[in-house]
Amino acid sequence: MKIGFFDSGLGGLTILKAVAKELSQYDYAFYGDTKNLPYGDKTESEIYELTKKGVKHLFDEGSALVIIACNTASAETARRLQQEFLLTEYPDRKILGIIVPTVEMMSFDKKTNVALLATKRTVESKKYDLELQLKSNGNVVLHSIPAPELVPLIELGEIEAATEAAISRIEKEASESTVIVLGCTHYSQLKQGLRLHFGDTKSILSQDEIIPNKLSEYLTNHPEITSRLTNTGERSIHLTEHRPDYDLVMGQFLGGVYVGE
Ligand code: DGL
Repeated sequence: MKIGFFDSGLGGLTILKAVAKELSQYDYAFYGDTKNLPYGDKTESEIYELTKKGVKHLFDEGSALVIIACNTASAETARRLQQEFLLTEYPDRKILGIIVPTVEMMSFDKKTNVALLATKRTVESKKYDLELQLKSNGNVVLHSIPAPELVPLIELGEIEAATEAAISRIEKEASESTVIVLGCTHYSQLKQGLRLHFGDTKSILSQDEIIPNKLSEYLTNHPEITSRLTNTGERSIHLTEHRPDYDLVMGQFLGGVYVGE
């Protein structure tokens, strides 16, 4: 069986790419809901139904475990999918979100100013606020910056323009922050430009550098899942809508096979 990755578009591929590099022995499948991107402005129930459809597709295609590699969908659906869908329909499989593991990687020994760059929906869900307060014992001041305008730019490969826009929002709205959480999988592609610009003054947390270790830990602790994973080298990509300019991004992903709907 495979490890499945779900995202609203291609952003989650950055996470899958990092995981497949670190844990190259496993088989992987990716589902990108490019037809319905962006999720960041949708309602909670729309996001729930769309995510459920994608996760179901990944399970039916043979994933033992699905990572919701999208903060917006993780914030709005992970817990509910685990409680209402998984238990009744796929009790022998697992669904993991990416917000809790991201917060678990952070340490707070002193009061810290954190800026969260995320979609409007992720910010409004307050999921990061909740998890950060729990983890830091109130030692965090969080400035949330809803920046949905960056997602379409990144999907188009306009990384420089998206980086400039992100810098300008951070400088205007959270200049005093010392930690920046890139709380949207698309934004991992901005990490280099942001690090170059902010240098040592802000540390940039990018989920492609967090999830591989956390998943590795999870697999070590869950032999009932790990023992079912196969090692044939398969990498498949399923997009709900294909555009010719996506080929370049997919081509960069380990020779993944495109299967359109
Ligand atoms: N990649 C998604 C996330 O991590 C957001 C993109 C969208 O708005 O669909 O939140």
